[in-house]
Amino acid sequence: MSLPSEIKRRRTFGIISHPDAGKTTLTEKLLLFGGAIQEAGAVKSNKVKKGATSDFMEIERQRGISVATSVLAFEYEGIKINILDTPGHRDFAEDTFRTLTAVDSVIVVIDVAKGVEEQTVKLVEVCRMRNIPIIVFINKLDREGKDAFELLDEIEQKLNLTVTPMSFPIGMGYDFKGIYNIWEKNVNLFSGDSRKNIEETISIDNINNTQLNELIGDNTANSLREDVELATEVYPPFSQEDYLNGDLQPVFFGSALNNFGVRELLDCFIEIAPTPRPKESDTRLVKPEESDFSGFVFKIHANMDPKHRDRLAFVKIVSGTFNRNTPYLHVRNNKKMKFSSPNAFFAERKEIVDVSYPGDIVGLHDTGNFKIGDTLTQGELMKYKGIPSFSPEHFKYINNVDPLKSKQLAKGIDQLMDEGVAQLFVLELNGRKVIGTVGALQFEVIQYRLEHEYSAKCSYENLNVFKACWVEIKHSDPEQLKEFKRVKSRFLAIDKRGQLVFFADSAFTLQMTQSKYSKVKLHFVSEF
Ligand code: G4P
Repeated sequence: MSLPSEIKRRRTFGIISHPDAGKTTLTEKLLLFGGAIQEAGAVKSNKVKKGATSDFMEIERQRGISVATSVLAFEYEGIKINILDTPGHRDFAEDTFRTLTAVDSVIVVIDVAKGVEEQTVKLVEVCRMRNIPIIVFINKLDREGKDAFELLDEIEQKLNLTVTPMSFPIGMGYDFKGIYNIWEKNVNLFSGDSRKNIEETISIDNINNTQLNELIGDNTANSLREDVELATEVYPPFSQEDYLNGDLQPVFFGSALNNFGVRELLDCFIEIAPTPRPKESDTRLVKPEESDFSGFVFKIHANMDPKHRDRLAFVKIVSGTFNRNTPYLHVRNNKKMKFSSPNAFFAERKEIVDVSYPGDIVGLHDTGNFKIGDTLTQGELMKYKGIPSFSPEHFKYINNVDPLKSKQLAKGIDQLMDEGVAQLFVLELNGRKVIGTVGALQFEVIQYRLEHEYSAKCSYENLNVFKACWVEIKHSDPEQLKEFKRVKSRFLAIDKRGQLVFFADSAFTLQMTQSKYSKVKLHFVSEF
């Protein structure tokens, strides 16, 4: 198949939600439709969830939290679908933000009873900043929840979206009868006791057809007609262009657990969701159909097999074809590299691949050459933009507990930082190392992994930092910068990329510093 047709048949997306809204369940059901897994039904799917499908790490199983982000690929109706799974736990939000740099669209899962939750707000905000096309799936319709219109309002207000329902629920919870598919103009009836079956879809050419009354009863049919009429009056009609530009968000209703409404979502998704999108580099916009290969590392996963110290760098292919055993330029190191066993990911396994296309993710075995954000090209000197670090929320000094293992500790910290588990800062004043994380849980993860993977022990000491701010040397006033550096020397550190960072210990200090040194440019993200 030619490059343009391979691009045309690819959809790479992420599923995001607040924990427990049903992201894992929906992922499983999508895999089920794609024939990528065979377990049909709710009982067995739990095993899949807790088994090896999407988690690589021991620690993940132990904690029962999706620490790592994984890639699940499958084929459906001739379309190659790549799902980049994202950890729902807020402590791993940074991991999710980075994964969002590699998706071409997202599906947001919302619990019908809980509505829009905190984590959803943050993740959707990031998607909106990047104009990522969003589809909303309202889940758990088999349970009592909020009224459909109320929920659509809430989504518009809290997530700042413009929605258009593509389906509409017929009843809810105990009275849930099914879904009217506005997009396909058909009815999908639900029978709550058959969790394993995917319901037959009954096509109705017109919502006023009396067949609908026979199927769901007069009262329900009439109130559905009213609801759908109101929905089509109130909400804008679907426009693919608006959806692709991030200006309109189609909404589906269903129950992932019951396999209900999932096929409709998937069928519509493959039709409307974007094919791999162009990406901005520091020199130009790169289009997928360009013949030269290029891609970037958005995730590094280390030591999946404790017996072999291996790292896998996840590369999203942006343009051209990626071929096995072909030399590519690692731009940051200015070094050509060949990969003899690139991995492609499928639902339950990874395999060595010869050729991959834009939209695909390849896993490259790495001995420590890659960092998150690195660009690979066929020779062109350019770097992909857009994987910034945010200010961590928790800061601690990290100390070595076993003096005989200081080398192992340094190496472990170094590699964990390359993976993006946390951020390392070195204080200018005394050279002490400070670890900054988004969530408190990461400190435990780091301690655990240093001990189990690097045989190094560490302890932590609290450090009171409110925010880390990156100092932009280039555009700051030299005189004021000099004074700032002298006065604030106790609060200055260097990050992993050698950038100067200011630790503000309170919101008040930050405000005072900003007004006193107004010609010193401070940023809350590392890329400016
Ligand atoms: P997450 O990945 O977003 O965190 O959510 P996950 O899929 O793990 O789902 C969270 C819980 O919600 C699970 O129940 C799951 O079975 C349930 N769930 C998902 N979709 C539906 C649905 O359509 N209807 C209903 N009623 N429940 C749904 P759990 O009891 O927490 O876990 P488990 O023991 O079932 O795994």
